[in-house]
Amino acid sequence: MKKLITGLFVGVVSLNAFAGGSVASGEALVKKYSCAACHGADFNKPVDPSYPKLAGQPADYIAHALTAYKRGDGANGRNNPIMGGQVKPLSDKDIADIGAYLASLPTTLVVGHR
Ligand code: HEC
Repeated sequence: MKKLITGLFVGVVSLNAFAGGSVASGEALVKKYSCAACHGADFNKPVDPSYPKLAGQPADYIAHALTAYKRGDGANGRNNPIMGGQVKPLSDKDIADIGAYLASLPTTLVVGHR
């Protein structure tokens, strides 16, 4: 079973590679900005139930969400005071790299077909 899960995980990682971000750079960025302080250990255990789990979410969805926080009040933006502050220093490349890293993590989310 463990081998099967590992195999599936490796498959998911390679599928996500198409998004083009760098997993290693994304890992360095989430450490630098202490994203796990709220989103929790392994990005699977948010410190508050109202905070989302990020591990294993698709890279393009993570990038979409972070870009929406950058837009803020604008069209298709997300107006959230906490995340609005977090995304300020992030470039588009940072966002793609963070997406690649978070997507590569083992997830406890139930996923549909990809
Ligand atoms: C101070 C706590 C805190 C920190 C630090 C934090 N976040 Fe968040 N994050 C939140 C909260 C709260 C939400 C939900 C906001 C909302 O309702 O839109 C969120 C939402 C998100 C989402 C959207 C998830 C989804 O499913 O739509 C992403 C992606 C995300 N955060 C990434 C990050 C990254 C990357 C960092 C570090 C650069 C970070 N967060 C740092 C609290 C935090």
